[in-house]
Amino acid sequence: MRAGPTIAVVGAGAMGGQIAYQAALHGYDVRLISRSEDRLRDASMASSALLRRRVEKGTLNSDACEAALARVSLGSGFEAVAGAETIIESVAEDRDIKCDVYARICEHVDDTAIIGTNSSTLPCSVLEMAVTHPERFLNIHFFNPALRMALVEVVPGPNTAEATIVRAMDFARAIGKTPVRLARQEYGFIANRILFIAIQEAMHLVQGGYISVEDCDLAVRNALGWPMGPFQLSDLVGLDVVEAILDEGLHQTGDQRWEAVELLRDLVARGRLGNKTGAGFTTPSA
Ligand code: 3HC
Repeated sequence: MRAGPTIAVVGAGAMGGQIAYQAALHGYDVRLISRSEDRLRDASMASSALLRRRVEKGTLNSDACEAALARVSLGSGFEAVAGAETIIESVAEDRDIKCDVYARICEHVDDTAIIGTNSSTLPCSVLEMAVTHPERFLNIHFFNPALRMALVEVVPGPNTAEATIVRAMDFARAIGKTPVRLARQEYGFIANRILFIAIQEAMHLVQGGYISVEDCDLAVRNALGWPMGPFQLSDLVGLDVVEAILDEGLHQTGDQRWEAVELLRDLVARGRLGNKTGAGFTTPSA
């Protein structure tokens, strides 16, 4: 048996799955943990397909690809966090669910491990009561799609130890990411703070009848150089996620700029949540 550095990723949604395979690509043995077998299977299949496509395109060596895939073990038991030096939690954006997960992680975690939450809306300071060692806990925030997007935001809470921040920065670099360290917690951190206010402006322009969804995306791609327009990007992130980020932003900051527009609320209420439901603001061509 190989004894490489080991990490655990808890939560096998779109983010957790890709974070796990990103780490495996960079030599980590990864334990991907979810209570849902379906999610584990979907996460494994989706990331395997993306990595095998790299092999077809000639950007990833076939042996390296298969080795990475073999480094990820899937399971539902929290005892698998034992032996992991870093644990990334990427479960639903819900305080109670996360706190329940930390209680289970902390039953098995090594006493030197650090725990990072991938939460984009909940700072570690509002979750830390559920971990046994807040000094080894912080936000390690990845971007969608995590196999592709380089940035990782490392955000300490008031009780995070300096050594934990340094380890989180080193871990992000070790898995091929570009980390930035925030001095302190702020709603939306950096990238989402800028992105979601910009997305709001786009939604106001469409709701006000100034431009269509398609033309607004076209304008932003061509004027600002975004790889995707704000509506395509919202569909990628998931409209329920966009709505939740805005609602939490309004709640945490009291700033009306975070007030979600009707256009978005209406789509979410109708179950048009973006790419994951097949359509959102945009309908990908078949
Ligand atoms: N999952 C994983 N990888 C994906 C993907 C997906 N959904 N979609 C595309 N990719 C990969 C492709 O496999 C390909 O990888 P490869 O080069 O290793 O083979 C690479 O991205 C390029 O793909 P394509 O050539 O098909 O497409 P594009 O050149 O149009 O790039 C994109 C796709 C990388 C998604 C690009 O459009 C992009 O960068 N979009 C913006 C994404 C962004 O802004 N993300 C941040 C969202 S906010 C967030 O995550 C915060 C959270 O808190 C909500």
